[in-house]
Amino acid sequence: MGYLIKSGACLLGGFFLSVNAQNISTNVPQLGKNTIKEVIAAMTLQEKAYMVIGGGRNAAPSAFADGSMIGQTDFRVPGAAGITNAIPRLGIPSMVLADGPAGVRINPRRKGETRTYFATAFPAGITLASTWNPDVVKKVGEAFGNEVLEYGADIILAPGVNIHRNPLTGRNFEYYSEDPVVSGKIASAIITGLQSNGIGTSIKHFAANNQETNRSTIDAIISERALREIYLKGFRIAIKESEPWTVMSSYNLINGKHTSERKDLLSTILREEWGYQGYVMTDWGGSAFNLLDQMRAGNDVIMPGSTKQIKRIMSLVEHDSLDVKVLDQNIERILRIVLKSPSFNHYQYSNNPDLKAHAQVSRMAATEGMVLLENRKKALPFAKNVKKVALFGNISYALIAGGYGSGDVNKAYTISLARGLKNAGYQLDQEMDAAYGEYAKNYKNWPNELVITNEQINRLANDCDVAVLTIGRNSGETKDRAIDNNYCLKPNEKELLQRLASAFHDKGKKLVVVLNICGVIDTKDWKDIPDAILLAWQPGQEGGDAIADILSGKVNPSGKLATSFSQKYEDVPSAKNFPGLPAANPTEVVYQEGIYVGYRYYDTFKIPPVYEFGYGLSYTNFSIGAIKLNSTIIKDTIEFSTTVKNTGSVDGKEVVQVYISAPAKTIDKPVQELKAFAKTKLLKPGESQKLTFKIPVDDLASFYNDKNAWIAEAGNYILKVATSSRQVKQTASLILKNTVVTEKVHSVLHPPTTIDEYKPGK
Ligand code: BGC
Repeated sequence: MGYLIKSGACLLGGFFLSVNAQNISTNVPQLGKNTIKEVIAAMTLQEKAYMVIGGGRNAAPSAFADGSMIGQTDFRVPGAAGITNAIPRLGIPSMVLADGPAGVRINPRRKGETRTYFATAFPAGITLASTWNPDVVKKVGEAFGNEVLEYGADIILAPGVNIHRNPLTGRNFEYYSEDPVVSGKIASAIITGLQSNGIGTSIKHFAANNQETNRSTIDAIISERALREIYLKGFRIAIKESEPWTVMSSYNLINGKHTSERKDLLSTILREEWGYQGYVMTDWGGSAFNLLDQMRAGNDVIMPGSTKQIKRIMSLVEHDSLDVKVLDQNIERILRIVLKSPSFNHYQYSNNPDLKAHAQVSRMAATEGMVLLENRKKALPFAKNVKKVALFGNISYALIAGGYGSGDVNKAYTISLARGLKNAGYQLDQEMDAAYGEYAKNYKNWPNELVITNEQINRLANDCDVAVLTIGRNSGETKDRAIDNNYCLKPNEKELLQRLASAFHDKGKKLVVVLNICGVIDTKDWKDIPDAILLAWQPGQEGGDAIADILSGKVNPSGKLATSFSQKYEDVPSAKNFPGLPAANPTEVVYQEGIYVGYRYYDTFKIPPVYEFGYGLSYTNFSIGAIKLNSTIIKDTIEFSTTVKNTGSVDGKEVVQVYISAPAKTIDKPVQELKAFAKTKLLKPGESQKLTFKIPVDDLASFYNDKNAWIAEAGNYILKVATSSRQVKQTASLILKNTVVTEKVHSVLHPPTTIDEYKPGK
């Protein structure tokens, strides 16, 4: 046989490993030509170890100049988060993995080049979820995925679908909602859009990565029911509907064991129960965990990977601790994805995505995700006679496009609100514009508001037609937010707000507050001071133009809250159990609130929030017509329709939210839960649209810990068609005649001890 063997070496983390790297022969199986099994059978143990260990981030270059071996991320896409390893002799290329949920995170500049590699910063996840519009989110995915492809990456490390358990969580901006149905549907839309480009996604962080405090060591103690109904459900919906190529396990432990080591989570639930076909990778730096358990659990790839781990895998097999069949199975799942990748298919990427066109998508999605919280005396949109705007707040001049950490995007620019208002044809006060502009240039000044005197305010109240104050909050990886001066307004912010309100109100002029924030803040304390509050969240790089679109009335706001604003932090159901104990350095966090997260808690325990889940105002009004049901007896599916009519005087979109109250005879349940939603098209005044819904009986089921089953209980169900969780417009009564066990599942994920969970009436 004509073997031509060239040996080579590759370097990772300072070690050389000898490999038969370029064994080119017609007799050596090749990926794509031979079966995956044949390719795996031809691998040496060392090559097998390469496949399950990642290629490192910014690791030292390999000995091969073609960029095809370990540690050469920078040769292909500088700034990407990592790669999978290549085995050229078997026709296996490496794949490039890049962050993150709001746009492709790569280095904008490369050594020796004058051109730039900026990516579009799309609105943060929290903003996208507030659109309640999967079509819009899919369009974002299509544009974003095109940048992944055209910048030469194979897999984007997104979306993040962890639940907003607590408002202080530093990465809530990347995540979608307190509700798993909204999370799952929005995730599914963005995955579908992203993957339509022929690139892959990595849905993350699986699962229960709901805090940044001690994120790698915290043990989340959660009941099986809360896991199934809340923390896993969004993943399940997205995985079933949109088949992400990969899943990223989380850093934290669940019920005593790291998620990347849990076979029950990664194999029993994910693969056996949900039928998942892709591969699982760790979150970055999973090296401290148990490699043997990770391999056996079905955590197929360890990212970013180290030479030590390659050696360890080999030693585990050589010493009979790890059955090589386990590795073979992991590799098979990886290779199935490699086969689909742009790298394998030799996609000639351009490095020139259409950034201009994508900026427009970003702006459109940002306006759609903004939520109008208050609008007294029609303060918004600005009246026709508003020409000159008094613009206050550092953040008005240095807008926050998105949060920091791996979810940040290296964008070419961010449109400030000052720029956005000018672009929309408004004048700003020149002196104020110059003073803030200068001050905002210095990043360090952001947390401290520029001091504005009463004389300045009075002059602007005379000269300008309206006042706008932006309040900003940013957060990111590794750190949760604080209550004082962060969740709550800082004393100087509140003081400025009061001085502005009194000066402008004295002149009969209005004050609008724009919230450019990363997560929920306290509003109870000050919401009645301004005339209007626009929640812009983190709107991406076009933020200033998008906010101006809403303030001017060019776009009618149609966003709704995907996460509740409670009256005070202490009302948050997890407040007593966040970020865990011991307080000085938490190691364990007990999810005592169980399934009662967000509105499920506020509604069931009768604690009114300031702004409820699903809430958001519009510049027009809508009527919601009677529910037209196919039958009041529930069989396989509840089918019904309702008609939405724009009864106001400007064009607008409405979100119809479907909540169901289920009988709770055998176990306690939330008083209502969101089961479906739909957004209308842009309706003209007087125009109507019929919306049709189909809710399978499976979606009525609750999880019974003791029976390891999803069960829809016989009895009366109330169907509610609403425009927020507390604004129910139509109801209908339904009957399920017999109890249905909709699914039997495995008895897994048990907490180490019984959790004293919150129960209604207890
Ligand atoms: C983050 C992930 C990210 C990864 C790669 C980790 O620290 O938790 O979300 O994808 O880094 O940058």
